[in-house]
Amino acid sequence: MPKILITGGNGYIASQLKLDFISNGYDVVCSSRNKLEQKCDYVFNDNSENAYLDIIKQAQPDIIIHTAWINSIDLCEKDNVLADLVNVQWSKDLINAIKIVNTDIKLVFISSDYVFDGHNGEYTEEDECKPVTYYGKNKVSVEELINNSGLKHLIIRTANVYDHGGKFFNFLFSNLSENKSVDVFYDTFFSPTYMRYFTDSVIQLLSKNTEGVVHLAGEERISRYNFAFKLASVMGIDERKVVPISKPNEMLIAHDVSLDSSFSRQLLSNFSPSVEKSFQFLLGRIIYPYFTHYDKRGGMMGIVQNEQKWEEINYVEAVQWAVRGGHYHKNTHEGFYIIDGVIKVETSPLGSDNKNTFIVEKGDIFFIEPYTVHTFYIIKNAKWINFLSKAMKVGKKDIYAA
Ligand SMILES: NC(=O)c1ccc[n+]([C@@H]2O[C@H](COP(=O)([O-])OP(=O)(O)OC[C@H]3O[C@@H](n4cnc5c(N)ncnc54)[C@H](OP(=O)(O)O)[C@@H]3O)[C@@H](O)[C@H]2O)c1
Repeated sequence: MPKILITGGNGYIASQLKLDFISNGYDVVCSSRNKLEQKCDYVFNDNSENAYLDIIKQAQPDIIIHTAWINSIDLCEKDNVLADLVNVQWSKDLINAIKIVNTDIKLVFISSDYVFDGHNGEYTEEDECKPVTYYGKNKVSVEELINNSGLKHLIIRTANVYDHGGKFFNFLFSNLSENKSVDVFYDTFFSPTYMRYFTDSVIQLLSKNTEGVVHLAGEERISRYNFAFKLASVMGIDERKVVPISKPNEMLIAHDVSLDSSFSRQLLSNFSPSVEKSFQFLLGRIIYPYFTHYDKRGGMMGIVQNEQKWEEINYVEAVQWAVRGGHYHKNTHEGFYIIDGVIKVETSPLGSDNKNTFIVEKGDIFFIEPYTVHTFYIIKNAKWINFLSKAMKVGKKDIYAA
């Protein structure tokens, strides 16, 4: 397995990339200005001209994923000098250091939808870059440096990578969780990208040795308002808490920076979830498949890989409008894989009126823990596989009516 060095190791995307590359068997090290926050292997000394040279000499990576950047559009705008130093000069230093140590190292750069001016939307890799913000201008400068470096490289343009921890998602989630209203622009469009899809795709692109420029973003071109509306809806919160407002002219958010990622999707063989589906994952209601791979022979999706022992596996069919369940288990963990149909699932901890309701459909995976009352309302004829940690033996069934 190639050895990977990630710059900006304490960052939001870098931290998740590190975890996911490690769980895929890669040897991963990080550089960071700050050794304390997270385990960081190499300290980036921002006073040293040779900071990257020393790090690369010591780390001897095969691939460098460059994420270190001032990821604040406002700060880049306010402090051009700092932005030029951190974003451009240090990227230049990194490129030079690679050339000195080992020109076989592949450089992967995380770029952005903000390389475009946002007038047209649905930008492809062939569209001309016309950045409006200083942040975007820095991204284009570094893309050009990399393109002209002669090094093996992959430039990944992505957009609003969301998860718990993503700025926009967090703003919406924390306010809506407290039943507070949020003002959201209805006239700005983007291609929000679910973090698990992003990291999974980066791993695949590297394993396929992809080079050049690729757009890697969610499939949906969506307004910020609609994104927030869908989140409120999946959270079961009154959607009127999401208030549509128009973007003030002076704000630096582009009108439409949606990305066309069809090229990367042709290269990839993984599962790209809708915005709604990803919210279900983020709320912990359904489980992101631990592995997916599709090619011309067909496909494979990993349902479960854990320490749990499953003593019983059943195939179940249910007809439209049937209601099943309405019980809980004391000792049995239960897992479900939906083969077909649509089901409204209602769960609540035993003795609580705190009901959690969500919709599952073909391909969804979820688990029900002991002492959770669960009822299934079949909305469309359904089929599923159900697996139980304890076999339901006659006379000893661990099933209790709520
Ligand atoms: N998040 C998104 O939605 C998104 C979308 C498109 C593109 N991107 C790009 O993806 C990359 C990672 O983004 P992110 O969201 O993970 O950002 P982030 O959490 O802010 O991470 C960036 C890292 O860069 C380093 N850094 C930041 N300010 C610095 C400064 N003044 N001097 C030196 N180093 C500094 C820090 O690493 P250490 O503290 O470890 O030194 C920081 O953790 C960036 O290049 C960003 O432009 C992100």
